[in-house]
Amino acid sequence: MDQERLLRELNEFLRIPSVSTLPAHNQDCRAAAEWVGAELRRLGCHDVAFLGSDTHPVVWAKGPDVPGAPTLLIYGHYDVQPPDPLAEWTTPPFEPTQRDGKLYARGSADDKGQVFCLLKAIDPQNPRVNFRFLIEGEEEYGSKVLFDLLKREPQRVRADAVVVADMSYVAPGWPAVYTTLRGLCYAEITVRTSKTDLHSGEYGGAAPNAHEELARLLTRLKGADGKINIPGLYAAVKRPSKAELAAWKKLPFNEKDFLNKRVQGKGLVGLKKYSVLERLWALPTFEIHGILGGFTGEGAKTVIPAAATAKVSMRLVPNQKLTTVQRQLAAAVKRLAPKHVTASVQFLHGADPAQIKVDSLAFTLLDQAFKKVTGRGTVPARAGGSIPVVPALASAGAPVILTGIGLPDDRLHAPNEKLDLKQLWDGIQVFRTFYELLGAQPRM
Ligand code: BES
Ligand code: MN
Ligand code: MN
Repeated sequence: MDQERLLRELNEFLRIPSVSTLPAHNQDCRAAAEWVGAELRRLGCHDVAFLGSDTHPVVWAKGPDVPGAPTLLIYGHYDVQPPDPLAEWTTPPFEPTQRDGKLYARGSADDKGQVFCLLKAIDPQNPRVNFRFLIEGEEEYGSKVLFDLLKREPQRVRADAVVVADMSYVAPGWPAVYTTLRGLCYAEITVRTSKTDLHSGEYGGAAPNAHEELARLLTRLKGADGKINIPGLYAAVKRPSKAELAAWKKLPFNEKDFLNKRVQGKGLVGLKKYSVLERLWALPTFEIHGILGGFTGEGAKTVIPAAATAKVSMRLVPNQKLTTVQRQLAAAVKRLAPKHVTASVQFLHGADPAQIKVDSLAFTLLDQAFKKVTGRGTVPARAGGSIPVVPALASAGAPVILTGIGLPDDRLHAPNEKLDLKQLWDGIQVFRTFYELLGAQPRM
């Protein structure tokens, strides 16, 4: 493997600031799509197409035909999350830098580095299987373009198996396949208390304060005990089986290490009667991402804010449904807001949770590939994160393999995101082996 050349090429991809949630980066998203398209053409693909959007297109392609071999659909995303807070990066997010065998850059693990890994594992001289590619540019913003495309053209997901590498090992040395992903319900909750801001001396003591009302509303929605007080929310939640809970106890996961090495905080929160893994993987969440409104500038201003908005999201677990949770959240906000407050909820994007059976042949082959290259096969685990389009990828019945070559400490969405290069080099071997094993199967 020519690691130097591969690194040069990966750096090129990582240097494109394809932040899908910021319109200022629309051209960069398009550039990242073009980078993927050029790479697919180099692999001998035909029908390379940019679909659904000029700025955030889904890159679609078919690999060279391999008569009689199975068809494998590769899904990934070329968009990334915003890099802020910039000051906390040791080296700039879009200037990929190597330190201690790790490559630091936004997108190195999520998901450009992993898309790169899947593509570079393909031998253009001998592709082994019939590849299909769906590499999207709006995963970090709810995947609307891809959802619309698949609604119009559901045949795009037709394949014998689908592989998604957008996750990590469960621990160093422990590759995984994921049996569930959580869903997501992203919303803005806005509270208005008066027509305009008011002088806090003239009005303070008698006029309602939007920030105070919003703070109270938010703490009513989720209490200090970690319980979410949205009527009906937990009704659909399906507890993991005893067997699954027992299997989690054998995973290399330690609650103290999770607190000290990964969270690096003083204590964990949440529903105390459930294990940390159950809280992360099998229970819904309610998180506040940011609060807007009022005075946050330099210096001091004495004002009663008339409006305040919280950006929040909820993670959904099997068998919750996005549409139901949206209704429940909107109703709870209405019910919990006092009469002197106008509260409204606006939904930005969302996704249903995904459940994947990991017992078909494709999983056995991936397990063998990992075992051969890394010395250990895959363990089934669950994922706390979301990939909105996964239920749609699974809808045609092909097994969807959720796996990845990242490590739990890659700092996705955070400053100093990195990818361990050993993970990348191993990963290329793993997927190359997987493609070979799959190609040796009769059409599935
Ligand atoms: N790769 C992640 C999803 C992920 C992370 C799965 C960790 C499992 C473990 C993906 O890029 C992501 O961040 N998705 C967003 C989706 C949302 C913006 C609709 C997420 O989970 O916040
Ligand atoms: Mn991702
Ligand atoms: Mn992500």
